[in-house]
Amino acid sequence: MRILLTGRNGQVGWELSRALAPLGEIIAYDRSGLDLAAADSIVAAVRSASPAVLINAAAYTAVDQAEREPEVAHAVNARGVAVLAEEAKRARALLIHYSTDYVFDGVQDPPYVEEDEPNPLNVYGLSKLAGERAIRQIDCAHLILRTSWVYAERGRNFFLTMRRLLAEKRELRIVSDQIGAPTFAGALAAATATLLDDHGATALGERRGVYHMTASGSTSWHGFAAAIARLEGVDPLARVVPIPSEAYATAARRPKNSRLSNEKLLREFGVALPSWEASLAVCHARLAGTR
Ligand SMILES: NC(=O)c1ccc[n+]([C@@H]2O[C@H](COP(=O)([O-])OP(=O)(O)OC[C@H]3O[C@@H](n4cnc5c(N)ncnc54)[C@H](OP(=O)(O)O)[C@@H]3O)[C@@H](O)[C@H]2O)c1
Repeated sequence: MRILLTGRNGQVGWELSRALAPLGEIIAYDRSGLDLAAADSIVAAVRSASPAVLINAAAYTAVDQAEREPEVAHAVNARGVAVLAEEAKRARALLIHYSTDYVFDGVQDPPYVEEDEPNPLNVYGLSKLAGERAIRQIDCAHLILRTSWVYAERGRNFFLTMRRLLAEKRELRIVSDQIGAPTFAGALAAATATLLDDHGATALGERRGVYHMTASGSTSWHGFAAAIARLEGVDPLARVVPIPSEAYATAARRPKNSRLSNEKLLREFGVALPSWEASLAVCHARLAGTR
């Protein structure tokens, strides 16, 4: 199976390039090899690779910065994704694309299911929703995997920021009224590889659509920070203080309820990610070099 992967240096892309290796030939691009903001670069890269599967792990992911540059966010997350979907259709390839909990406004109480109506609160969410809609309208064989709160041993993420701040600061004030599932990029990549390995590109394309794919369980950013502190041998009660969203100003608004139900993924494909606590321990151990 020839697999084209975009965003190979991102959190998810880096993990995917490893998880997918046993499945076939991986042609992995960074931005210089496939620039989602440049249609001709996308067309050239896909046509030269002629893959059976395209996996798009590239995206404009700077949530607050997107408020200042909506045009760039839309160029990458919507227009670039539309070109990718057109190319997937032309090549009769399966497109696996990642999207986000930030397509929802977070006002409902229960976890969101795939059929719930999106209503993004910020530019990044709007651009990702536009990308989803482009794929569905073009209707290539596709899976749109919505995930949340991604972290890894590398890249810019909450897990690494908390580790650094715990070493630098006496007290961390962390938002406790946004609830979601911290999802380890390694677990997301492993589950994506399992989907492809167990079902194959053709069967996945026949069951095209949106699927939620996050770690199981949920917590707040404060709960996540407290768990990181415990793994670092720090007492969270003494050092990690819960605060409301209103006390932490950011350019982009964020949903209070980011929980996504993963039931459809389990029902349709028998795939579920480990709990967020289990994956956090794995990521922490990997960083500590003990696994
Ligand atoms: N991070 C999260 O919390 C989160 C939550 C929900 C969903 N997601 C989704 O999950 C997917 C993977 O996210 P991630 O956390 O792995 O993101 P990431 O670590 O920020 O990686 C994104 C990658 O995309 C690349 N990229 C940016 N603009 C590009 C362009 N114009 N052309 C080609 N590549 C470009 C970046 O390259 P450079 O290094 O050159 O900038 C980077 O390697 C994305 O679809 C994201 O929307 C992420």
